[in-house]
Amino acid sequence: MSENVAPVITVDGPGGSGKGTVTQMLARKLGWHLLDSGALYRLTALAAIRQQVALDDEPALVRVAAGLDVTFQPTPPGDPARVLLAGEDVTSEIRTETCGDNASKVAVMQPVRDALLQRQRDFRVSPGLVADGRDMGTVVFPDAPVKIFLTASAEERARRRYNQLMEAGVDVNIDALLEEIRVRDERDINRAAAPLKPADDAQVIDSTGLSIEEVLDRCMAAAGQA
Ligand code: DC
Repeated sequence: MSENVAPVITVDGPGGSGKGTVTQMLARKLGWHLLDSGALYRLTALAAIRQQVALDDEPALVRVAAGLDVTFQPTPPGDPARVLLAGEDVTSEIRTETCGDNASKVAVMQPVRDALLQRQRDFRVSPGLVADGRDMGTVVFPDAPVKIFLTASAEERARRRYNQLMEAGVDVNIDALLEEIRVRDERDINRAAAPLKPADDAQVIDSTGLSIEEVLDRCMAAAGQA
């Protein structure tokens, strides 16, 4: 890796594998920047709906993705960044199941992915970047010195999501959540464009049955920072 390029740790994996929490903790611990690439796909879907663009209108979706007016606003350490779309706080809105599902639909389109590529690479600045997504190690930062693929069983991921939603006061059915997770995994894994899979040089960590601190310890060890 050239000396004037900031280091990157990529953390890829399916939704609910603990990536979001672990990448936030890693970035905080290292004092590095954080890229939540899923937020960009969620924002593209949300902006499309607001502009009455159909989620299968590829050329229009590419324009939406290319023209996204996004600000990731820093918050006190430990809190997730606030996300502004054209100045409006959409932090909660992009976290809904519907928005995640719509994001997964727009993310199958290669031209939409291309439109978001440089925006993601621009996050790579000193002192370093922790990049959270599906294709961080395979496509966006293929030269990253540390690549982690975080996974967990679908049942465990459904349980975690269920607990999160119940804590937030949202009443959900765990079987319905499990089914949604399976459908979304299927779409993310089997799509032709940048499918969800570990990079050849990724270290795979299965977080099933591990606490978030244990997962963080393993990620720090993988990053050679333990
Ligand atoms: O990580 P997330 O749940 O916020 O991601 C939402 C959707 O966006 C996910 O179903 C697939 C897509 N995505 C992607 O295709 N590539 C990424 N790097 C990140 C997310």
